[in-house]
Amino acid sequence: MKSPDLSSVYSPSHAIQNRAYVASLDEYLKIYSGAIEDPVQFWEKISKQFFWKRQPTGPFLNYNFDLQKGPIFIKWMEGGLTNICYNLVDRHVQDGYGDKIAYYWEGNEPNEQKQITYQALLKDICKCANVLKSLGIQKGDRVAIYMPTTIEAIVVMLSCARIGAIHMVVFAGFSADALTERMIDGKAKLLVTADGTFRGTKFVPLKSIATQALLQCKATGHPINHCIVFNRLQTTKQTEHIPDIPWDDAIDHSWDALMASASDLCEPEWVDAEDPLFILYTSGSTGKPKGILHTSGGYLIYAATLFKYAFDYHLEDIFFCSGDLGWITGHTFNVYGALACKSSSLIFDGIPTYPDGGRFWDLIDRYQVTTFYTAPTAIRTLMRLGSSYVTKHSRASLRILGSVGEPIDPSTWSWFYQVVGAKRCPIIDTFWQTETGAPIICPLPGATPLKPGSATLPFWGIVPTIVDDDGVEIIGEGQGHLVIKNPWPGIARTIDGDHQRFESTYFKPYNGYYYTGDAAKRDADGYFWIIGRTDDMLNSSGHLISTAEIESALMQHPSVAEAAAVSAPHAIKGESIHCFIVLKHQSVYNQIIETEIKSLIRNRLGAFAVPDLIYPLPALPKVGSGKIMRRLLKKIVRQEIHLGDTSTLVDENIIEQLRAFTLNKVKIF
Ligand code: WTA
Repeated sequence: MKSPDLSSVYSPSHAIQNRAYVASLDEYLKIYSGAIEDPVQFWEKISKQFFWKRQPTGPFLNYNFDLQKGPIFIKWMEGGLTNICYNLVDRHVQDGYGDKIAYYWEGNEPNEQKQITYQALLKDICKCANVLKSLGIQKGDRVAIYMPTTIEAIVVMLSCARIGAIHMVVFAGFSADALTERMIDGKAKLLVTADGTFRGTKFVPLKSIATQALLQCKATGHPINHCIVFNRLQTTKQTEHIPDIPWDDAIDHSWDALMASASDLCEPEWVDAEDPLFILYTSGSTGKPKGILHTSGGYLIYAATLFKYAFDYHLEDIFFCSGDLGWITGHTFNVYGALACKSSSLIFDGIPTYPDGGRFWDLIDRYQVTTFYTAPTAIRTLMRLGSSYVTKHSRASLRILGSVGEPIDPSTWSWFYQVVGAKRCPIIDTFWQTETGAPIICPLPGATPLKPGSATLPFWGIVPTIVDDDGVEIIGEGQGHLVIKNPWPGIARTIDGDHQRFESTYFKPYNGYYYTGDAAKRDADGYFWIIGRTDDMLNSSGHLISTAEIESALMQHPSVAEAAAVSAPHAIKGESIHCFIVLKHQSVYNQIIETEIKSLIRNRLGAFAVPDLIYPLPALPKVGSGKIMRRLLKKIVRQEIHLGDTSTLVDENIIEQLRAFTLNKVKIF
């Protein structure tokens, strides 16, 4: 295969342009400048495509991004009354789309399949909403969801939205401790979980983990009185691998039993556009996860618009996003954006390598997927298995490919483009965050010439720029901190329960701007190239984890006196996790301690956060104030020669010791 010229630009093909909503760069640019000149008019027109029980009564947009003028706030369409679930489901049924498939679901095993129409989805949502109400859930209450990617998890999310309750989905790969922490912080009143699921041949004991978390909540004075358990395992054939599922009649309820007796009629609760829709936790650099809060009206119109234009979604398309419902990608593109556009989507509760490395391509053929959205880490895993898994399948239905979660390096881009997409499908590299609600920098399939590795240009209404360390805006070509100048409807409104942290994390670093925490480069054509996080955050297999979270878990080991975590580049995961520890006096590092540390992290955070390498050291590099110089450790694990300014180190001799430990591979494992 001739390798592509990665410095070249890939213009949209005629086939893509012929069907596109936006078919030229000029058209994109014209709409872009209109949206910047008058964002209110731009978004007001879009908002009219949705149902409002009452139109907004206040200003369409009201905000402050400047801490010197007062507290940060962002409000769109205040006073408007709507219901996002009504807009996503009822409206389509009323418009005659009741028989359209909303979701195809496939489980871990290829014969685990379900599908649901919009009409049937509406009935299930109403039943579930009535179930929640019967268990005491009202508008404003928080419902924790700890479920695998299933139609039922989506039913729970939308039934919360229907009654004005706030859902908090916790990724089903998180540990009992992580679930407990989130349920307590978010003041969850009820938990919905499942008996378990499979990842390949590995059983994931969701209910056991949930039970442990519920016991921990109770022990810390935050009892949760109801737990609904969906019977996910009813379709599996791997029954011999299923251990006993813990059950407590006092709080556990069977999903099937509750749903069977619930009414399928439930009036939606009309909520203010600025009422909270959901809280989704993301890592924070202090170690305590941040409950990112999104509201109903703004998130609805932003998610819907991005789904329509970033994927050029048309009614006959089949959309497949491999992202878990527990992440913002799942929320925005598997649920809210997708349903707002009457999409038929495939959701998948399995892994790309089971039963073999061709699973995604097999799914794409069987469901005739037109739009496939995934993460670079998954692409790299599959690339390594070889192209024959891909080429064995036709993939003829594919039109558009998408990437999210981390920078996609040009060689991965090229494999995705050439092998998976057979040079036919544009790659929509979408840059966004839990906080942004939906992509803010991404190409449009029919309009934007692509450059491999660049998320390209901002979406309509978004004004990104780059600033230097002093917050001075860099004009034209350059590299710096990526910030956004103005609000858009999908931006998070606060960190639940800690508005001050919201202000100090996103607005204080560069006053007047929303700070992404990423570094980026802007080229001469105005294209953005995301470089990665500049804060103490690492991105391993698409999971954003703060070094502080890992360090505080390490510190819980009785033999660990001090700890520091940093990342290094990794061929598959993007970044790997390296931990440096100093043991307490008289402790000796050995295999037992290492195993204990790894399982501690698995239990505290989840398997995705387990370190790749642990280096026991006599001391950590520190500056006079006692702060660990992590940037030095980062350079050392990356085997960089130039270490930057190390003059503030208390003991510069430590550098040689560090090099010896890492370069001489004194990794005793
Ligand atoms: C990174 C995921 C480069 C970035 C939707 C961001 C990306 C963090 C891209 C947010 C991309 C996401 N190119 N980097 N296309 N998309 N990122 O909150 O560092 O889980 O700040 O949201 O992922 O991760 P989060």
